[in-house]
Amino acid sequence: MNTKRRVFLKHLTLGIVGVAAASCEDLPSSLVLLPPLQNIHPVGAPLDLTWKALGVKTITIAYSPNGGETWEIIGQQISAKKGFWTWDAPSEITQFAIFRISDERDSTLNARSAAPLQIVAAFPVLLSDYPSLNQIGHVEVFEIASFNAFAILTQDDNSLKVKSLTCTHSGCQVNWEASSRFFLCPCHGSVFNDKGCEMAGPADMPLYEHATYYQADSNILWVMDRLLQNGC
Ligand code: FES
Repeated sequence: MNTKRRVFLKHLTLGIVGVAAASCEDLPSSLVLLPPLQNIHPVGAPLDLTWKALGVKTITIAYSPNGGETWEIIGQQISAKKGFWTWDAPSEITQFAIFRISDERDSTLNARSAAPLQIVAAFPVLLSDYPSLNQIGHVEVFEIASFNAFAILTQDDNSLKVKSLTCTHSGCQVNWEASSRFFLCPCHGSVFNDKGCEMAGPADMPLYEHATYYQADSNILWVMDRLLQNGC
């Protein structure tokens, strides 16, 4: 399985919160908490936290689901030199997840998330269960009781896109017709091609795309409950 093609994520270059203090070695100690790869994250998926530290041995990591009103310790005695740590899995949906790292010798030396992380509902797709997704042009439809229907499309460059099956006209669920390779809306007849682009109205927009997160260590594609309007 070529995992490179499944990299959907871009590094964000948002601001960073850092606090510095003086160490006993006359070098300024510092902690910088780096922003996550995306500003949304699937509930239930491990989350990587990364930082830069100078003059710090061990840190404590705290989590707040409500923008800093309340905190819980999620990691202790973590080597600052390591520079990263994986939180098993956030278990609650929130728009205001923030993190704080603190020097265990001096908690006044700490750094917080520069912006809240949104933790959203998501459906995990174990890609090894769908070998057909290795074929360019393949369309795999998922109809799950607890989640809006979606389809995973294998693009010409072998990457994967996830399209919502909710019609962009008035919200009916479109059906995939493998013989014609069109998504057809049963309500008013809109037609979308195998890339989700509108081919016949009344819909005048492509099918929405789902935000995704690829968990490389488990080969899981998390389909997040967040829709993006991308062009065709
Ligand atoms: S809801 Fe799909 S064409 Fe109207």
